[in-house]
Amino acid sequence: MTHTTIAVLVGSLRTDSVNRKLAEVLRDQAPDGVSIEIIDGLGEVPFYNQDVDTATDIPASAARLREQVASADRVLAVTPEYNGRMPAVLSNAIDWLSRPYGAGALVGKPFGVVGATPTPYGGKWAHAEAVRSAGIAGATVVEDVTVSQSALEVDVLTDPEVQARLARAVEVLVEFDRETAAA
Ligand SMILES: Cc1cc2nc3c(=O)[nH]c(=O)nc-3n(C[C@H](O)[C@H](O)[C@H](O)COP(=O)(O)O)c2cc1C
Repeated sequence: MTHTTIAVLVGSLRTDSVNRKLAEVLRDQAPDGVSIEIIDGLGEVPFYNQDVDTATDIPASAARLREQVASADRVLAVTPEYNGRMPAVLSNAIDWLSRPYGAGALVGKPFGVVGATPTPYGGKWAHAEAVRSAGIAGATVVEDVTVSQSALEVDVLTDPEVQARLARAVEVLVEFDRETAAA
């Protein structure tokens, strides 16, 4: 059986982050044949700066991020929305992953996004921005993965319907076939 690894970028740094907890639930309930790894330390990755992104030496935290994403089969962002956009920590990670131009760790990597916010819209602007940005960075966006879940009236960490929707999102990302999509 093929084994699929998914690297997860969490867009919130706070300790009690609902999105971080969602990512942990997905990791702990990953289906057979799938490993989900949450990339830690995104808050330590410096703001992207071309001056420090040199061929010979880049910050260790950025190098680690690139290696972890490069070695994964899929990438999933799990993120809230800040002021109608994706949080800066996620945007910064995508910037680091977009370089070297044309050969960044995201290039050709199937990418999806899910997340929850306590509004009726569930973070959909942030999610739309994340897929647009990842696509420009070279990722192969799997639009059908997207779940923008409102956390207004449900406990997204325990609600069975929400959990099923998120589990399905992981399945869609795992099952995504580049050749079929390109045909
Ligand atoms: C700076 C800031 C801006 C926010 N802007 C939005 C927003 O535009 N849309 C939205 O749905 N929620 C917004 N929120 C609410 C967050 O979605 C909410 O705090 C969410 O729980 C954060 O995710 P987390 O629990 O994973 O940290 C904002 C929160 C902060 C702190």
